Amino acid sequence: MAVCKCSGEQVASPQDVELMELLGHYRDYEGGLIPVLQGAQEIYGYLPAEVLEKISQELSLPFSEVFGVVTFYAQFHLKPRGRNIIRVCLGTACHVLGGSKIFAALQDELGVENGGTTDDLRFTLESVACIGACGLAPCIMINDDTHGRLVPSDMKKILEQYE
Ligand code: FES
Repeated sequence: MAVCKCSGEQVASPQDVELMELLGHYRDYEGGLIPVLQGAQEIYGYLPAEVLEKISQELSLPFSEVFGVVTFYAQFHLKPRGRNIIRVCLGTACHVLGGSKIFAALQDELGVENGGTTDDLRFTLESVACIGACGLAPCIMINDDTHGRLVPSDMKKILEQYE
């Protein structure tokens, strides 16, 4: 919901309108919860509590069921995410070649823990098991870009490439 500057009343934001259209499409569709959650996350960038409440009401599902699905699947996020998602590989090959040092350097540089997002929403930092580029170990992905054969001192320059 957005607040109208003239009247102070709550008005539907363009995102709310999009959500209602999505809900209208799936309201009578059995098994529609997952596609609605995926669509809502695309609209808002994450799944705020008030959006989950709206979904629960409109699909006539208990809030606990909606919340349970969101927390079960790793694809859903309850907090805002950064514009750039950094995935640091801590799989075996990367771990052996210093993946945890790369991770520590990124934590220092960004000031966030695993799963954390910087206050300016520029980056979210996550660790993952293997990104399928073991030959480039230790490596990370930022969005769809793979950066490999890294040393901790590379991190600052790499981060500068992302707004
Ligand atoms: S272990 Fe890191 S890419 Fe496979």
